[in-house]
Amino acid sequence: MLKAIASGIVLLSASFLAVAQSSPAAFDPDAKVFRLDGGNVSYVFGVNPRGELQQLYWGGRLANTDHFGKAEPMREWASFDSSYTNTPQEYAGWGAGLFVEPAIKVTFADGTRDLVLHYDSHEKTENGVDVVLKDIKRNFFVTLHYSIDPESGILARSATIENHEALSATVEQAAAAAWSLPAAHYTLNYLTGRWAGEWTLTQEKLNPGARVLESRRGSTSHQANPWFVIQAGDSQEESGEVWFGALAWSGAWRITVEQDQLDAVRVTGGFNPFDFGYVLHPGQSLETPVFYAGYSAHGLGGASRLLHHFEIEHILPRRVGTGPHAAPKPRPVIFNSWEATEMNVSDAGQMALAEKAAALGVDRFVMDDGWFGQRKTDHAGLGDWYVNPEKFPHGLKPLIDKVHSLNMDFGLWVEPEMVNPDSDLYRKHPDWVLNFPGRPRSEERTQLVLNLARPDVRAYVLGFLDKLLTENEIAFLKWDYNRNWSEPGWDQLPPLEQKKVYVEFTRNLYAILAELKRRHPKVELESCSGGGGRVDLGILKYADEVWPSDNTDPFDRLTQQDGFTYAYTPQVMMAWVTDTPHWLNKRTTSLSYRMLSSMQGSLGIGANISKWTDEEAATAKRLIASYHEVQPTIVQGDLYRLISPRNGSEFSATQTVNREKSQSVVFAFIHSTQEGRTFPTLKLKGLDPAAQYALTSIEGQAGPGTPETASGAWWMNHGLNMGEDFRGDFQAAAFRLDRK
Ligand code: GLA
Repeated sequence: MLKAIASGIVLLSASFLAVAQSSPAAFDPDAKVFRLDGGNVSYVFGVNPRGELQQLYWGGRLANTDHFGKAEPMREWASFDSSYTNTPQEYAGWGAGLFVEPAIKVTFADGTRDLVLHYDSHEKTENGVDVVLKDIKRNFFVTLHYSIDPESGILARSATIENHEALSATVEQAAAAAWSLPAAHYTLNYLTGRWAGEWTLTQEKLNPGARVLESRRGSTSHQANPWFVIQAGDSQEESGEVWFGALAWSGAWRITVEQDQLDAVRVTGGFNPFDFGYVLHPGQSLETPVFYAGYSAHGLGGASRLLHHFEIEHILPRRVGTGPHAAPKPRPVIFNSWEATEMNVSDAGQMALAEKAAALGVDRFVMDDGWFGQRKTDHAGLGDWYVNPEKFPHGLKPLIDKVHSLNMDFGLWVEPEMVNPDSDLYRKHPDWVLNFPGRPRSEERTQLVLNLARPDVRAYVLGFLDKLLTENEIAFLKWDYNRNWSEPGWDQLPPLEQKKVYVEFTRNLYAILAELKRRHPKVELESCSGGGGRVDLGILKYADEVWPSDNTDPFDRLTQQDGFTYAYTPQVMMAWVTDTPHWLNKRTTSLSYRMLSSMQGSLGIGANISKWTDEEAATAKRLIASYHEVQPTIVQGDLYRLISPRNGSEFSATQTVNREKSQSVVFAFIHSTQEGRTFPTLKLKGLDPAAQYALTSIEGQAGPGTPETASGAWWMNHGLNMGEDFRGDFQAAAFRLDRK
């Protein structure tokens, strides 16, 4: 991303004086003020007279003629509130009198635990600026990397921490960045959940104290996602100021949102400091993940639209085309075998499903768990990545050939970082798992976590995946990860260095993914972790899509999809249509309701389609064909959450508009009609008011009197009515509008 972003930085320093003389007060030769402008955003920070780097402004874009004077630290408020802690520092070391969350905390070899970072130098980069900070006494450096996306104004920040002392130092806490907001009334939004219940948008007023969002689990987690939005007091879904951020890290992480004793807010995020310790020997350095952050004056909806486009254009791999709006291809419509056959896969059974899938218009056939080793249940086989000879006596080739003959490509499930104790791999290498020697090894789903931080484990995982992809024509891997860490020991290293596992494991995961992509550039990837346990901007640099949840109930999914899209684009949001009654909730829904729920994201079929009636197959085929026609608008357009399904809402509706404003797609859902209420008028958004748009039904009927064609102004001001017949339980309708 860093390379993709053209420079948006204006450096207001003494050297700038010669070029722009319009506001002399802004160019005090003693003041060093950095300003980044992109999209509708300006971000400004400066070096205060003590030498600390201090934030001066983050918000709506300022005029080029606006200038900032010298950064002035906040004063000591009382003898209990030092100036050092009150000043909104860009990256405060734990030292001096810091009481708020530090960006970095270090213990030096002589026991000193005081780190005070002052400005040392800076260098303009292609994309922004690198600012070097140095401890006031020691040869300990932190380089802060800043860049800004000229289009969205989304900032990318990270830090490189370097020890040039004669002895080693241990980094006990290291954030990617700290973001500051002045004292005001704010609402915090974050995403929480659990297995089969991810993506709950949680909203609360910010109060004094710290709200800690985190995973201590070694990976991103279902329970909290590394994303936040802070809304100004009066902000809503489509209005008001919001500041948002997302951390690009798939290991244990923490974001602390803290309102200090003077009501100012600081958001500090990076490696989770819990159980953290990274020893830097002389000359060594530690690179933090990137913390992205942005600003919108258009509420939560504005924030998510900025993030979606940024993810599509700067984060996701495999963008096609060139220019600022180069985007990945919409995802193929897949069939996945998991809910149809679970681990009971076989040559004949999968071929029969492939025939049925192809007849529906599916593009990709994915065989899930069960094809390898001695995998009959989840008690055995993980780690042994050879094709099970009883289920597939001639290897995978006959099935793959069959899938190709049906004009689909082939995908396969793997879970590379795990091992069952009942496997050849574990019998040969019991030392390869995370463990503390002599202590129990806690199993979850009868599996243990391989220590990917070990070079030999990394080589094994890369080796078997490379072989699998070389020997078979595989277009796609569903990369699963079905438990969290326990007993995270790494006994190859000296005791004080073992906690490096929190960094090296995830770095090796990224390195394997990068190398696989280099060797097999066409192979696409899904990040799955028992559903949405590993979704973040770090993994999305490698993964083309994610599995948001093992919960495929179409009604539950509406709320999950609502929550998911606050942070992540529908382009990556895989959504399968599965069987009814649903295995989790025992809820019965119509096929068309299930299809429309999944069509809000990247559509897949995960049902046992061998049991479908001809009528069901015809419905699915028709809707898959309709979906293919409008998919780019749905997954890459501007998303408006017109009515949220959250908080037990009776109704919900979304609308997406493509960038050209030439097409829009509307989805409307009824949970359960009560007291005969009619569906609310949908006042559409984001259309060109002067253009004419024709309305076509994808499923369901608009209300009587709805024009076939009307102006964008009509659809946005008068709105779309569904009519009185749109009532009942679990009802769904969808429409497209095309510019004439
Ligand atoms: C996880 C995934 C499922 C499926 C199973 C297979 O739970 O989320 O989609 O692949 O593993 O064991």
